[in-house]
Order: sequence, then C-alpha cells, then structure tokens
Amino acid sequence: MGSGTWILALLVLQSVFDGIYGLEQEVNHRTERISGSAGDVLEDDPVGRLKVFVYELPSKYNKKILHKDPRCLNHMFAAEIYMNRFLLSSPVRTLNPEEADWFYAPVYTTCDLTPNGLPLPFKSPRMMRSAIELISTNWPYWNRTEGADHFFVVPHDFGACFHYQEEKAIERGILHLLKRATLVQTFGQRNHVCLKDGSITIPPYAPPQKMQTHLIPPDTPRSIFVYFRGLFYDVGNDPEGGYYARGARASVWENFKNNPLFDISTDHPTTYYEDMQRAVFCLCPLGWAPWSPRLVEAVVFGCIPVVIADDIVLPFADAIPWEEIGVFVAEEDVPKLDTILTSIPIEVILRKQRLLANPSMKQAMLFPQPAQPGDAFHQILNGLARKLPHDEGVYLKPGQKILNWTAGPVGDLKPW
Ligand SMILES: *[C@@H]1O[C@H](CO)[C@@H](O)[C@H](O)[C@H]1NC(C)=O
Ligand SMILES: *[C@@H]1O[C@H](CO)[C@@H](O)[C@H](O)[C@H]1NC(C)=O
Repeated sequence: MGSGTWILALLVLQSVFDGIYGLEQEVNHRTERISGSAGDVLEDDPVGRLKVFVYELPSKYNKKILHKDPRCLNHMFAAEIYMNRFLLSSPVRTLNPEEADWFYAPVYTTCDLTPNGLPLPFKSPRMMRSAIELISTNWPYWNRTEGADHFFVVPHDFGACFHYQEEKAIERGILHLLKRATLVQTFGQRNHVCLKDGSITIPPYAPPQKMQTHLIPPDTPRSIFVYFRGLFYDVGNDPEGGYYARGARASVWENFKNNPLFDISTDHPTTYYEDMQRAVFCLCPLGWAPWSPRLVEAVVFGCIPVVIADDIVLPFADAIPWEEIGVFVAEEDVPKLDTILTSIPIEVILRKQRLLANPSMKQAMLFPQPAQPGDAFHQILNGLARKLPHDEGVYLKPGQKILNWTAGPVGDLKPW
C-alpha cells in the first residue's frame, strides 16, 4: 500500500470518528429495538412452553468429575455444567417424566482438562455411551424414540464428533448413539458432518462477573478502529500459517501489522476488556476450533464483531439478527479488510452500535449465575420449545430399532 493510500485511509478514519462522535451526541445512548420476529423471539419466556425431565445420573457422570477439576467451571465449554445447574431449579423442570416434552442427561464430557486447561475429548464417547446405556435400561423413554426427544449439551470444538482435530472429528462423525438426539453445541459450520440439522448453536461460556467488573463508562469514545488480540500463527502445530484458521489470521497479520487503523497483537493486555469498549470493530476470525469467546466479548462490550469464518453458524442464529449487528468478511477478502471496514457508511455503523447496545442482545450471549430472563439458558429453552410438538414419526413402533449399538470405532465400545 502506497503512502497516498495511507493518508486517504486516515482521512476516512478521521471522518468516521468525527461522524460517530457528532452523531453520538444526538443519539445519546439510544438503543434500538430489533424489529420483526427476531427481537420478540429473544424476549420470549420459555416457562409454560415446555417441560424438561432431568435424569438423575450417578455423580461419576457430573459432580465427581467437576470435583476433580473445578477449572471446568471457568472453561469456555462450561455451559454443560451451568446448564445442568440451571435446569435443576428451573420452573420448566418436571419430576414427572410422563409429562415431559424433553429429556436431558447431565453428562460433563468436556471436563477432562490437560494441565494447561485444554479439554481432552478422548473419553467422551465412552462416557456418553455409558450414560445412554444407563438411561435406556433404567427408564423406558429412550427406547420410545431412541433419543429423538432427548437433548445433550456437547460444547466441544467439533461438538459430538468428540475430537479437537478437524480431520479426526470428520472421520469420527457424530457419535452414532446421538444421531437422533438434539445437540446443543458451540460448534456451528454449515455443511459439516459435525453439525446435524436441528442442532442448537450456543455461545461459548465467558465469565459474566469478570466481564462486569471491567465495564467502563458507555460514553467513552471508541478511539480504536479495529481491535484484535490472539494468535495469528500456531507456531507449534502450523508454523507456516497456511492451515491454522485456514490462513485467515496469518493474512490479517501480514496485511495489517503496520496499519495504524489496526490495533492487533498476540499480547493479551490486562486492559483487554476495556480496549474492546474503546474499539469500533473487533475481529472475530476463526481459529483451530471454529468459535471462541471473542464474539461474546464483542457483543457484551458493544464492539461490532467482524466475523471472518466462511460458513459459520452463529449462536441462536434463528433469534439474533447477526447480519444486522456484525460485519461478515469472506476469508479470501481479508487482504481488503481495511477498505471494506473504512467504506461502511457512518449511519450503518451507528445502527449496528445501537443494536449492540440493546441489553437483550448481550443477555442472550451470557450464562449468568443466577440465571436472568432472556439469557443464554433461556434462549436454549426457547430453541427447544420452538421444536415442539415432536413429529409423530419420532416415536418408534414396537420392536422397531434404528440405532446400531455396535456402530463406530471399536475403541468407543469399551466400557467407561
Ligand atoms: C431398551 O432397549 C435396549 C436394547 O434394545 C434393552 O436392552 C433395554 O432393556 C430396553 N430398555 C427398557 C427399559 O426396556
Ligand atoms: C452395526 O454396526 C456394525 C459396525 O459398523 C456393523 O458391523 C453391523 O453390521 C451393523 N449392524 C446393522 C444391523 O446394521
């Protein structure tokens, strides 16, 4: 890029900022309601619309595992734990399985962390299979539908494919015994074997209290144009950067490391959350796993998420108008990111900021303790309620079997 272009870019930026500040006076923290069905859906109250039966499983499937490693409560996949706690005291819970619309088995399959805190999904398939064996022998409900009125929270990198490497995950496919169940997962990518139809894509867990303590006054000027902190290269696994994040992050770094509009670095500063509140755009590129808490942070801090992840399925996409809130940049267009972002009209930026300022948007991204109306727990229930009533076809005829209990890798069949 020649220096002429730089000056032009800076002038554009200057006018964007002038425009934002000028108009901001006028708008003065006005938020914008989401028009149409989307906003209404976000504010739905699931109570009275569905009843969930929670299986009582031996503590080795949940409590004991957590007891061994309490770090699981702060991990980005902690939703599996908080969802269980939420359901146990939720008014949608029923103790009478005969009247239940949905059945839920609390199995903490991601709570097996390395010393560095990375989840190892190697035992997950056996653990899940063991839990399903148990519920199908002790209660009559699994066999009625072979799981079609059951849901499971599987927030691994590639959901119920239970592997953190994509090729291996694809090779494994979704655990066969979960083929008929509804999966609640963070993984979301269109046309991918690890995302089956009817799944509910949820945000990863980001600690709500911790984020709360970093809030700065909402009228603080957004003086950073583009913000990103994270890896550009995975030096250990992919030093060339061609495979990691499909090359998108490497491209962000190579093209914009010296661009004054881009505040990007691998250093994770203590002011990370504050910086996001000072930025207009926050980059949300895919990583090894397609999603990370970055999107949640951007929404909570009112920074327009710039999603660089082709074919991504965003959390609660049937309730949140992501296209209106965020900016979507194709992976191959990363070299043009500066032009793309500087040519977004100020009115469009302001509208996105007003939508982001809508509390229902932030609420839907979080798993607060205790739960609050409209939060991610409630959005999951809303998603489950929208699937009711179950199609008559999910109930099997006497003697009818669809699932094959011996399908899948032999290693998965070993008892857990
Ligand atoms: C459900 O089916 C499995 C396998 O077909 C069988 O072993 C089990 O006993 C059945 N469960 C009940 C509660 O009848
Ligand atoms: C079940 O899966 C196993 C392993 O893939 C296969 O050998 C067997 O033929 C399958 N059974 C049926 C009934 O399809």
